[in-house]
Amino acid sequence: MRVLIADKFERSGLEALQAFGCEVIYQPDLKDDSLVAEIRRVRPDVLVVRSTRVTEPMFDAGPIKLVVRAGAGYNTIDVAAASKRGIYVSNCPGKNSIAVAELAFGLILALDRRIADNVIELRQGRWNKKEFSKARGLYGRTLGLIGVGQIGQEMIPRAHAFGMKVIAWSRSLTPERAATLGIARKDSPLDVAREADVISVHLALTPETRGMIGAEFFAAMREGAYFINTSRGEIVDQAALIKAMRERGIRAGLDVYASEPTAGTDDFNDEIAREPNLYGTHHIGASTDQAQEAIAAETVRIIKTFKETGK
Ligand code: MLT
Repeated sequence: MRVLIADKFERSGLEALQAFGCEVIYQPDLKDDSLVAEIRRVRPDVLVVRSTRVTEPMFDAGPIKLVVRAGAGYNTIDVAAASKRGIYVSNCPGKNSIAVAELAFGLILALDRRIADNVIELRQGRWNKKEFSKARGLYGRTLGLIGVGQIGQEMIPRAHAFGMKVIAWSRSLTPERAATLGIARKDSPLDVAREADVISVHLALTPETRGMIGAEFFAAMREGAYFINTSRGEIVDQAALIKAMRERGIRAGLDVYASEPTAGTDDFNDEIAREPNLYGTHHIGASTDQAQEAIAAETVRIIKTFKETGK
């Protein structure tokens, strides 16, 4: 079985694939036309990707039978085009939940203490204790979760450890489940927006969630509240968020954006990046050694099963 890996992948995973007889072609910098050309040249049975988008021309370029998304979401893969051709698409849910929750908390703390601005001024040789002595603190504050899937759930014990109260909305959250998790269930995202000091979004990107967080949501948020998104940029109406940052003092911690480069290094000209009330990272939520090792192991398991059973 020939496996083409078109994004960065753990060495342990490469070795495990080779150990059970796969021919592995590791080309971590391919995308768009160069990936189409490589598929035509290599003729892989399996394509493994992380950030790289998988589009219809790639399915027509070679005999791909399985695409594995080495991550939780699979919105970067044209699943409809794959299904039409009988190509399986698989993902690795739950393997990076802790890593993403850790980054979300990092962003909350960084926003509250303005850690990045502190560091930048210190590097520039300026001591500015007066300017930076204005944090609110997290203890006793309310964290509002939008989405309580595997990542959202990882936020709860972390928030409790900081002495925060947790409220949440999720389409599937029952009162019984909320009680078990030790959180207060809200009937709508707007209820969460009204009551939380910090909001963190943990939804998959679907036709229902695309653009779901917009002007009405930001207008309902408390003045100066924090808004965190480590899920998908397209869930948020970015223009509405920029307006809320400018006019209502909302501070945002984002790891994801409406339009992201798919390569490891590229230009990023999104206007939101220049907003002073934004702390932005480079879609690195899943990028811990622990998460990437778990994802590599899961990818190997999926390919092994496919090799043995054909599905
Ligand atoms: C995911 O879907 O799990 C992440 O977005 C993976 C990534 O870092 O691209």
